[in-house]
Amino acid sequence: MDLHPPEARPAGVTFAQADAHALPFAAGAFDAVALHFALLWIERPSEALAELRRVLAPDGVVLLLAEPDLRARRDEPDTGLGAVLQEAVRRRGGHPAAGAEAGRWLETAGFRTDLRVTERDWVPVGNLEETLHELDSLREAGLLDEARARTIAEAERAAAGRRRVLLPVTYGAAWKR
Ligand SMILES: C[S@@+](CC[C@H](N)C(=O)[O-])C[C@H]1O[C@@H](n2cnc3c(N)ncnc32)[C@H](O)[C@@H]1O
Repeated sequence: MDLHPPEARPAGVTFAQADAHALPFAAGAFDAVALHFALLWIERPSEALAELRRVLAPDGVVLLLAEPDLRARRDEPDTGLGAVLQEAVRRRGGHPAAGAEAGRWLETAGFRTDLRVTERDWVPVGNLEETLHELDSLREAGLLDEARARTIAEAERAAAGRRRVLLPVTYGAAWKR
C-alpha cells in the first residue's frame, strides 16, 4: 500500500501501490497488515486506519512495527537536527508525534491495542557522513535553508564522536474490536 515502489521485488511476492485512505481491496481480504514508519507520513491516520480495518479479516491483526515520537526526541549535544526533522515531517503533512498518538488513532478507528514504547535509552549517533547527507537531502527538498543547514552541519562536525540521541518508538499489535 506504499505510494513509492519498493527497491527490491522478490519473486513470488505481489506488490501494489495505493493510497492508504482508499485501498483498492475487498473487505476482509487480509489476515495481517504491517506498518513501519508509516503513520508518521500518512495525512489522515485515523481515516487510513479505518480503511485498514475494512480490508482486514474479522480476526486479522495490525502489526505496528515502528512509529517514532520525534516530538519527544532529545539530542545531545543539541545541534538543531532534531527540531529540523520534526519541522520537515510537519511541513510534508505528516505527524512528528505519531508514536505518541498511534494508540488513540487505532482506538478511534475501532481497534483494541497492545502497544509498547521502546526503552528510553540514549543511542550513539555513529556516522557524521550520514547526518551531513540527511541535511543535504532536506536542503534539496526545500525543507531547510542554506544558512541553517550550514550552522547545523558545523555543530554536527564539532560534536562528532560524542553525539547521542533518545527517540521513543512505539510498536505492538491491534485487533478489531
Ligand atoms: C518513512 S517511509 C516508510 C516506508 C516503508 N514502510 C519502510 O519502512 O521502508 C513512509 C512512506 O509512507 C508512504 N505514504 C505516505 N502517505 C501515504 C498514503 N496516503 N498512502 C500510502 N502510503 C503513503 C510514502 O510513500 C513513504 O514511502
